[in-house]
Amino acid sequence: MKILVTGGAGFIASHVVDLYLERGQKVVVVDNLSTGRVSNLNPNAVFYQMDIRSPQLAEVFKKERPDIVNHHAAQMDVRRSVADPIYDSDVNIIGSLNLIECAKLYDVQHFIYISSGGAVYGEPEYLPCDEEHPIKPICQYGASKHTVEHYLYMYRENYGLGYTVLRYPNVYGPRQDPQGEAGVVAIFIGKMLTGDQVTINGDGEQQRDFVYVADCAEANLLALNDLQRSGIYNLGSGEGTSVNEIFATLRGIIGYEQDPIYGPPKVGETRRIYLNAERAIQDLGWKKRWSLEDGLRETVRYFRSAEMVEPVALPSVGRSSAQTVAGAPVDGPQKGQPSQREALGEAARGDGDELRVLEELGQRLESLPFSKRWPADLLDIALRAVRARGGSIIILDQAKKIIGAAASFQGVTHELNPKELQMMLDRGLAGWVTQHGRAALISNTLEDARWATKEWEQAEASARSVISVPLFFEGRVSAVLTLTRENHDCFTHNDLALVSSLAAMTSVSQEGIQLPVAV
Ligand SMILES: NC(=O)c1ccc[n+]([C@@H]2O[C@H](COP(=O)([O-])OP(=O)(O)OC[C@H]3O[C@@H](n4cnc5c(N)ncnc54)[C@H](O)[C@@H]3O)[C@@H](O)[C@H]2O)c1
Repeated sequence: MKILVTGGAGFIASHVVDLYLERGQKVVVVDNLSTGRVSNLNPNAVFYQMDIRSPQLAEVFKKERPDIVNHHAAQMDVRRSVADPIYDSDVNIIGSLNLIECAKLYDVQHFIYISSGGAVYGEPEYLPCDEEHPIKPICQYGASKHTVEHYLYMYRENYGLGYTVLRYPNVYGPRQDPQGEAGVVAIFIGKMLTGDQVTINGDGEQQRDFVYVADCAEANLLALNDLQRSGIYNLGSGEGTSVNEIFATLRGIIGYEQDPIYGPPKVGETRRIYLNAERAIQDLGWKKRWSLEDGLRETVRYFRSAEMVEPVALPSVGRSSAQTVAGAPVDGPQKGQPSQREALGEAARGDGDELRVLEELGQRLESLPFSKRWPADLLDIALRAVRARGGSIIILDQAKKIIGAAASFQGVTHELNPKELQMMLDRGLAGWVTQHGRAALISNTLEDARWATKEWEQAEASARSVISVPLFFEGRVSAVLTLTRENHDCFTHNDLALVSSLAAMTSVSQEGIQLPVAV
């Protein structure tokens, strides 16, 4: 079967994609990478970087003809839904409706929709909540997630589109974003491992139903067993665990010694919620396999491993079946353009695989004399590796203060004044990358608010394509490398993967060395 998974570069759906592929299904991923990561993408899935609200979504359906849609993509930040309910409803309702319409138009057999058991019931009248519990969401996110369930019912009644709704509890596990707004487990682990103070919102006695991500992924597999059946299913353990208990368990596992500080509670948050999953157990054969303790240990193990430093897995340069929005493969060279190997110049000799190319780049990096010119030399290697037209590197100290920089545009070195640099960090893409600790690929700078135009570029403020990646040192962002090209010569995901790997290798190869450059 061919399954179109939305949000497949995100935390939970990337595990679902892995599981589907492991079980022999064909997978197409649609994700706009707003919170998802390239490194989460399984290279064996066909990837479309696309917004679920895009009118071009129908073209993906026309081309791929999926049998099943599995819809995970969402605006899933409760606080953002409260602050910007229009955006929340646009992504979660209109985006979902766009998908459902495509599913109807292109004869999809079954629609798996991910809803939220933690948000749709509101403050529970009884616990654990089963699916018959009144729906009384107390945040915009809960309302938008639930609304789609009505559409699914309607489309089944009127057009015969079968559906499975999975109402997730609080999901945790590997690949959850420790810098995200949601996901208390990942946030706590991230802080504890870097020795930062943990803030608990409210008194910490709020209770949630925590389920390990592999258990939730399993339910998505079980949903394929009977495509004739439509239904709504809670997933959950039936037990509440307080945020204070999560803190204490993680503290024990990690050996963290500090006490938490308590901040104000979050608006729109339910006090206590846990879910009765009896229906999923009976009808789907679902079973929660991971105990909380084991799941937390596994999550800590993941965050301690190198995998947390993006990207870990070697990027699928030349092997990925990734596609651009327009559907053109990005793994091979575009017609008339040099291949990535050719573009790498002397690093790309011979017929070895891409690992060799990266290895050679790594060797080149290692042989760089460590001098004041080091950032400029690194920038130069990166520029040539992906044939970028211009770029910059900003070096940051622990307090995120700029301690060095280099910039180059069309082969000419640029002096960046401290004001410009600070602007890039305060308002520009480099600031976003630093804050989120993750790479970004922008196809069109004129359409992305994260890009702030620099003064020296104003003369030709045409649309550009940009890659920006963080370099890590001791778990913090120690530098940001940004590369630009003309927008008609858009960077691809392979370019991003290559530069991300270069950045990851650099962090390792320069470990322990204080960057000596001063602005
Ligand atoms: N994490 C939880 O505890 C939890 C609990 C209940 C329900 N859910 C639901 O599970 C799903 C996945 O959540 P997650 O925790 O993995 O979040 P996530 O942010 O890691 O994943 C969401 C993915 O959707 C993509 N996306 C967002 N907006 C998009 C758009 N407009 N077009 C295309 N792609 C878009 C993001 O880039 C990301 O890859 C969501 O539907 C969420 O509501 C999550």
